[in-house]
Amino acid sequence: MTRRPLGKSGLAVTPIALGTWAMGGHVASWGHVDDNESIAAIQKAEDLDINLIDTAPIYGNGHAEEIVGKALHGRRDRWVVATKCGLLPGVDEDALPRRCLSFDSIIQECDQSLRRLGIDCIDVYHCHWPDPETPIRETMEAMKSLLKLGKIRAIGLSNFGCERMAAAREFGPVDVAQTSFSMLHRWAASDLLPYCVEHEMGALAYGPLSKGLLTGKFRKDSEFTDVRATDREFVGTRYLDNLQKVARLNAIAQRHDKTVAQLALNWAVHQPGVTAVIVGAKRPSQIAENAGAVGWAIHPDEIQAIDRILEDA
Ligand SMILES: NC(=O)c1ccc[n+]([C@@H]2O[C@H](COP(=O)([O-])OP(=O)(O)OC[C@H]3O[C@@H](n4cnc5c(N)ncnc54)[C@H](OP(=O)(O)O)[C@@H]3O)[C@@H](O)[C@H]2O)c1
Repeated sequence: MTRRPLGKSGLAVTPIALGTWAMGGHVASWGHVDDNESIAAIQKAEDLDINLIDTAPIYGNGHAEEIVGKALHGRRDRWVVATKCGLLPGVDEDALPRRCLSFDSIIQECDQSLRRLGIDCIDVYHCHWPDPETPIRETMEAMKSLLKLGKIRAIGLSNFGCERMAAAREFGPVDVAQTSFSMLHRWAASDLLPYCVEHEMGALAYGPLSKGLLTGKFRKDSEFTDVRATDREFVGTRYLDNLQKVARLNAIAQRHDKTVAQLALNWAVHQPGVTAVIVGAKRPSQIAENAGAVGWAIHPDEIQAIDRILEDA
């Protein structure tokens, strides 16, 4: 697989990256997940020449990072490792995570992530979500101090809009933006992605399959009890519209002997500003299919047809 420069970080990453949220194994989030399958999926990604892996301490309260640490043991040099800080577990199991990007918390979280991952330097360290309670100057001081200590290689900001991104960049170098982006969530195309192009930043697009919706595996009567149950894309008429769009996209994918997931990922990695898509997978077969998204081209007239499908209300 080809490599793309990740902004000005000096890192180069494959356009398809592996996400590990589901590997956190939190049943309410993604249903049952088998750790051995998760490790096998990471190994499969490596076999397929994927080199970027994204995780976070909040994915299973450390569990996803531990799984990544196990899978990467002895193979660390093969990977660009991205993780995050700033989302702490809620007060009880059902509570939402708490946002905290204070100086002390970031320093402490980084050490915990390094330990769980079994590495001595994180390649891309993201602030997971903005924390309105902490001045961004304080947050950036912590991130810069980690750079200085050699505990991280590049600073990333996740879920920061252009205004917040610009405010943070007043206080230090930000090489990477991480944002939600897929055929069904294209908002970043009008602001954050052009911002990344303008400022030569890397952009990592998460959720490029819209939590599996763009794989074509769901039906009208599919029932959701996990993270999808509360996602508006999986509810009511919006869900039915999405299924219709996926069916129309599938017709284009089939012309290339590809799956609709491969079409959706190919489309996303070729959108202006996108450096890589972070696609989640729970088992080797999923990452194998997703890796087949690159190395072929969607025709320009098909791009227009896709635009029309996506714009149809
Ligand atoms: N920065 C942030 O705030 C943030 C937020 C969300 C995600 N992320 C990152 O982005 C990654 C990806 O996002 P995501 O996991 O939400 O969504 P996604 O990549 O759009 O969907 C991933 C899910 O779709 C299903 N899937 C994947 N490939 C498949 C295939 N070929 N065939 C059938 N099903 C397939 C799997 O779930 P099932 O098998 O259960 O269907 C998988 O867990 C996360 O793992 C995480 O690393 C970051």
